[in-house]
Amino acid sequence: MKTLFSATILSIFLTVSCNSEIEPLYKDKNAPVEDRISDLVQRMTFDEKVLQLNQYLAGENTNVNNIGESTKDMPAGIGSLIYFNSDPEVRNLIQKKAMEESRLGIPILFGFDVIHGYRTIYPISLGVAASWNPELLKKACGVAAKEACLSGIDWTFSPMIDVASDPRWGRVAEGYGEDSYTNSVFGVAAVKGYQGESLSDPYSIAACLKHYIGYGRSEGGRDYRYSDISRQSLWETYMPPYHACVKAGAATLMSGFNDISGVPATANHYTLTEVLKKQWQHDGFVVSDWEAVDQLIAQGVAKDRKEAGLKAFKAGVEMDMKDNIYLENFKQLVDEDKLSISEIDDAVSRILRVKFRLGLFDEPYTKVVPESARYLQPQDKKVAEQLVEESIVLLKNEASTLPFSASVKKVALIGPMAKDKENLIGAWPAKGDCKDVESISEGFEKEFGTRIKVSYALGCDFEGDDESGFSEAISIAKKSDIVVVCIGEKNGWSGENATRSTIALPTIQEQLVVNLKKAGKPIVLVLTNGRPLELVRLEPLVDAIVELWQPGVAGGSPLAGILSGRVNPSAKLAITFPLTTGQIPTYYNMRQCARPFSKMGDYQDISTEPLYWFGHGLSYTTYQYGTAKLSASQITREQKLTVDVTVSNTGKMDGKETVLWYISDPACSISRPIKELKFFEKKEIKAGEKTVYTFEIDPLKDLSYPDETGKYFLEQGDFYVHVGDQKLKFELIK
Ligand code: NOJ
Repeated sequence: MKTLFSATILSIFLTVSCNSEIEPLYKDKNAPVEDRISDLVQRMTFDEKVLQLNQYLAGENTNVNNIGESTKDMPAGIGSLIYFNSDPEVRNLIQKKAMEESRLGIPILFGFDVIHGYRTIYPISLGVAASWNPELLKKACGVAAKEACLSGIDWTFSPMIDVASDPRWGRVAEGYGEDSYTNSVFGVAAVKGYQGESLSDPYSIAACLKHYIGYGRSEGGRDYRYSDISRQSLWETYMPPYHACVKAGAATLMSGFNDISGVPATANHYTLTEVLKKQWQHDGFVVSDWEAVDQLIAQGVAKDRKEAGLKAFKAGVEMDMKDNIYLENFKQLVDEDKLSISEIDDAVSRILRVKFRLGLFDEPYTKVVPESARYLQPQDKKVAEQLVEESIVLLKNEASTLPFSASVKKVALIGPMAKDKENLIGAWPAKGDCKDVESISEGFEKEFGTRIKVSYALGCDFEGDDESGFSEAISIAKKSDIVVVCIGEKNGWSGENATRSTIALPTIQEQLVVNLKKAGKPIVLVLTNGRPLELVRLEPLVDAIVELWQPGVAGGSPLAGILSGRVNPSAKLAITFPLTTGQIPTYYNMRQCARPFSKMGDYQDISTEPLYWFGHGLSYTTYQYGTAKLSASQITREQKLTVDVTVSNTGKMDGKETVLWYISDPACSISRPIKELKFFEKKEIKAGEKTVYTFEIDPLKDLSYPDETGKYFLEQGDFYVHVGDQKLKFELIK
């Protein structure tokens, strides 16, 4: 009894004495996140709340399209910063100010464009998609997250999952090609790579899906423009990648610069609130793109900054990137009863939710490790190198020009890209450094050593009309067994604000190849670019074409490995290469046409066929597809149907083959695409061996289509499954 009495007294004493220092609930890392959020929000003043909705800039910004000054006298309570610096100690100093000088100690969220790597730069997304290896992308995004995290970044503005089929638009480089399903699969892989198992893992960073939504449909390929998208196409083509990535847990989204059929993406209540927040129940937040709130004025839907802010916020944009419009106008908007505190509380809660989930309240500072331990670790470079190997597409290989035969002893390496580093790194290189890039010529040296003599000539520059280097290039070519000509796009020619009226390379580069032809040697054309190119004049001049894309830091060796035969190419295009610019738009999943017979409606002056379709890519081995087999010829909507195909590697080299499975619906209430990719699988098949690929058709997922409200329909009748050049019919009954 005595003991019990003393214990009670002691506990009362402890409670009383601790009460004065009791930590607020939001600081208790063991409390549920939602409780922590409500506790914090109810302690915040109006000004503190509005500060959370703003993003400022810190550090030197080198992006020419998005120029902005580092914020001076930054308020300690700011919600987020774009952190252009890469020093964790600077971040920690800024964060210290937030933690110690803001009244409630709310950590800042540091964001940055980590697009295809942070310092270990891997290929641009259009190249990555050609690998058909999302697992490898997931690993690469894990590497990027770790490097970024150790440099003070909590949040990347990636992945870009804008389905895009107009190669004049420079940003095709940043997405996973022209197909919706491909963007979904790679988008999910990127989200999982960045965010890890949990956002609170030590090296996880938050993903940001962009640019929500329809930006890839920019009219004429012109950037920052109108995109005419019917609601049905919005649901059929553009929504699925976002929905898949939201389901995969993507923490945030960025609203696009585009105008979706009259309602800009940044003021679009339907897409941002009705769909994203209500239907999909996304509980993270949306950040505007750079000055996209202010640009609502230029787009003609707001008369001034105040109205722009009101429209963006009401539509569902919680964070204002750089504009400062929310901060300037929200007090007045609330006083005028145009905005309510509960709306602001909801937005603040969404931002705090991401911060809590990232563990920023509990561990606001970045661990400081030396740069040498942070970047370009051998195992991380290996991932980048593997991604390059798997993303290089062998587009043409006449008479088995590649790999080099044993008789190749002298190679002429020619062209402005052969020794280049700056352009190999690609658009949006984050903190990538050209000095880390392995050039094509360095890759050749490593691969061929003294076994093959490599002679180099520049030939010409990327543009201009100086042909003075042609004669040296021709003379070197004449003395060689084979010519490798490396041309392409400078990295600023693709990416943001990099629209081109033609997708042909400048005439000087084409002329270089025309002249090299005079040497009478086999020519291998190596292309470095961020978009499909018009190759109609070049293709007939060369024996082989290798698409290297913009490979990042590790391009040289994988390319040399492909040319030597050490690596068997396995990539296939995720975007169609039109024959000429005039064919745009051309994409594999166009709708069926009224007169598909006798070439009716085709171009009269050129072929209507593109040069290389989506899915095109050669290998050094041969794959033979056996007869595909369906598990049944009829199914009901509740049943699943499996299709198998046995693929044999009938050549002499081990290889990796990706089987692409498509569905088509010949008669439906609304017209359907010629075919739609529904599943893909990449597997290694040793020479002489075979393996079975299986696609399990789930009617609800694979045979249905959405209407203009996003409601999915499943109609009875015939369908086809396409694999290789086979097309198998089955019926959906009931
Ligand atoms: C503008 C770009 O459109 C977007 O992709 C990028 O994330 C932001 N600027 C921030 O740099």
